[in-house]
Amino acid sequence: METPEIIGGALPDWAIGTGGDTRFTWDYDGGNERLLNLYRKGKQRQWDAELRLDWSHEVDPDDPLGLPDEFVWISDSDLWRDLPEREKTTVRRHMAGWLYSQFLHGEQGALICSSKVVQTVPDLDAKFYAATQVMDEARHVEVYQRMLNTKIGIRYGLSTGLRDLLDTIIRDERWDITYLGMQVMIEGLALASFSIQRDRVRDPLARALNAYVLQDEARHVAFGRLALRDYYRELSSSELREREEFALEACWSLRDRFAGEEMWRHLDYGADECIRLARRSPAMREFRRRLFSRIVPTLRDINLFGPRMQEGLTRLGVLGFSQLDGAEISAEDERIAEEIARMEMLGRSREVADVIARGENDDDRRDARQEANDG
Ligand SMILES: [Fe+2]
Ligand SMILES: [Fe+2]
Repeated sequence: METPEIIGGALPDWAIGTGGDTRFTWDYDGGNERLLNLYRKGKQRQWDAELRLDWSHEVDPDDPLGLPDEFVWISDSDLWRDLPEREKTTVRRHMAGWLYSQFLHGEQGALICSSKVVQTVPDLDAKFYAATQVMDEARHVEVYQRMLNTKIGIRYGLSTGLRDLLDTIIRDERWDITYLGMQVMIEGLALASFSIQRDRVRDPLARALNAYVLQDEARHVAFGRLALRDYYRELSSSELREREEFALEACWSLRDRFAGEEMWRHLDYGADECIRLARRSPAMREFRRRLFSRIVPTLRDINLFGPRMQEGLTRLGVLGFSQLDGAEISAEDERIAEEIARMEMLGRSREVADVIARGENDDDRRDARQEANDG
């Protein structure tokens, strides 16, 4: 397999102490029916990335994702308008490299966290489900690695924002913090980023790949929602407050620390200015809207929605998203992926584009509704 250009050199090995006890259970007879259903679905919806995606497709080497200009974070500036076309190509290629590298590293984080959940979660039904997730996450690592190596050709190291978050949730002794950090916060980041790729980039391989990964992620979030909702009913108010604090801190970090910082420093068109432009770009606003439309309804559903949380979400300017129905959004992700798979089998590529366009319109309608609610 090809080796990509590695920006910043090879990463040193990273070893973190894993917090929490490994638990056995002797209760083989119980089981929450909804969790077991999700486990059944997890088994039935396995797919082979090698067969399901058309890897023979050749991407445009100058613009491997087919990234519309408005999704280049600095495009709303004189800096971008004055850049020679050759440099714009460099930015497009590096943005694809930086983004998909974070997807890749994040997926490895998910692989490790879901296997940690298998060990530390008390109940057998949850261990069963988490085991299907381990396989899903391995597949996700596989597809992003293959996309980077064979199509994009540039790989970046782990961003500091993602590293800090992963470090916290893997080290923590409480199994539910691994869940909350991974299944709600980082999965929320994934859902926002992948849905933008699915709906907005032009390259058909990138669109299909992200649609299929999203279908799996929608199940993972549903799992987090089910398991945490039950568990958080049992916690004391001071224990809940700790979780709310952790979640709010993660919200700020997801909001502000994923703007390609390492990439702008590497490219150096004036890194500080580029980071500033990226953080307030229209593309970043869309990212945040999608991010919080996934995270906030889940926080409400799992009962992390006390006065302190609501005050924090108000400060973030995202409390309005609590009105959305998280389960409905996940069901829509599943529906789009299923329709794409069905049509690909029929070889009707034009219709694939139509389905994605319809999904886009649904998202736009939801965004418009949301903006109206936000006033
Ligand atoms: Fe994943
Ligand atoms: Fe996942």
